[in-house]
Amino acid sequence: MSFNTFGHSFRVTTFGESHGPAIGCVVDGCPPRLPLSESDIQPYLDRRRPGQSRFTTQRQEPDVVKILSGVCPDEATGKQVTTGTPIALVIDNLDQRTKDYTDIKDKYRPGHADYTYDAKYGVRDYRGGGRQSARETATRVAAGAIARKIVPGLQVRGALVQIGPHRIDRRRWDWAEVERNPFFCPDAEQAAFFADYLEGVRKRGSSIGAVIEVVAEGVPVGLGAPIYGKLDADLAAALMSINAVKGVEIGAGFRAAELAGEESNDEMRMGKDDRPVFLSNHAGGILGGISTGQPVVARFAVKATSSIPVPRRTVDRYGKETEIVTTGRHDPCVGIRAVPVGEAMMACVLADHYLRQRGQVGETPHWPFAPKPR
Ligand SMILES: Cc1cc2nc3c(=O)[nH]c(=O)nc-3n(C[C@H](O)[C@H](O)[C@H](O)COP(=O)(O)O)c2cc1C
Repeated sequence: MSFNTFGHSFRVTTFGESHGPAIGCVVDGCPPRLPLSESDIQPYLDRRRPGQSRFTTQRQEPDVVKILSGVCPDEATGKQVTTGTPIALVIDNLDQRTKDYTDIKDKYRPGHADYTYDAKYGVRDYRGGGRQSARETATRVAAGAIARKIVPGLQVRGALVQIGPHRIDRRRWDWAEVERNPFFCPDAEQAAFFADYLEGVRKRGSSIGAVIEVVAEGVPVGLGAPIYGKLDADLAAALMSINAVKGVEIGAGFRAAELAGEESNDEMRMGKDDRPVFLSNHAGGILGGISTGQPVVARFAVKATSSIPVPRRTVDRYGKETEIVTTGRHDPCVGIRAVPVGEAMMACVLADHYLRQRGQVGETPHWPFAPKPR
């Protein structure tokens, strides 16, 4: 299997399967002398960890990260810092329950990747889905924690804004609320509704999709290359690479089609510090593939968990039509734990583009660009 790496200057390679001994990643290209220890990474993994509420899978994984390479103590400060060499991170798998999968080992779960893996490779690891499993996304969250250290002043936050057809009320958006409920939802009232709603979904043995919004603030102007290295294109690819993601929007996204030019253009004025400011952000902080300095805003749609205990029609590896009932431990709404994963992918893409920008152009912004007319 090839293509387990993403990024150019900040490169992340992940490895491991759901029921193997461990998962992990190698982060290559991280600048030297950044303070880095496990305690910088662990809090992000703790947010994604399974088994923390009845609305996520009951698999109990402590997800404790170990740094195997790429760091050493800094003589001056005594702190552990990056050395500029590959940083290898490993997370043990401790709560595999392979027997949950023996009944369905020859059957293809509709909506999952069992069929395509088998058709492509002629072999598939049925134990927890092997490499198809979103267990792999824990390693992206670990890499994202390192990425967050690279762009000075960057803040990347994600929030769940819709479950099934039920959207939050944006007037009640409160970032502090995201850390207070099990849904990463910024609307306290809607989070209370989601609790009842999802309980019903779970009890029916069903599952449901969700929409997540990720906002990056403190993004410098100038990140992204205008043709084949557009910041929005790389961001879309990174978010689309998350398991179960079926749609990505930047800024106004699909609603941009409904807006007239005078509505969708983000008008400009001069701000206090002699820099331009935009009066709206329909562009989602990106114009011509290059960051504007406004918040970068992306949303992604996550489909319903495919592994459900409701009987579904399928076929097996031998071409026989059959039924499948998928029991075991699954997230009733995988969109919830996708929030920290979306944040991590945004952070990795921005770190990559920040380093690429520094390599080619140096520090940005080059403002003012033109000398003032006399
Ligand atoms: C955080 C997270 C957790 C997931 N947990 C499950 C799960 O418990 N059961 C399941 O069937 N799919 C789960 N998925 C989705 C599958 O991994 C995904 O549907 C599968 O790999 C097929 O890929 P695709 O849906 O992108 O086509 C999860 C996805 C994410 C992002």
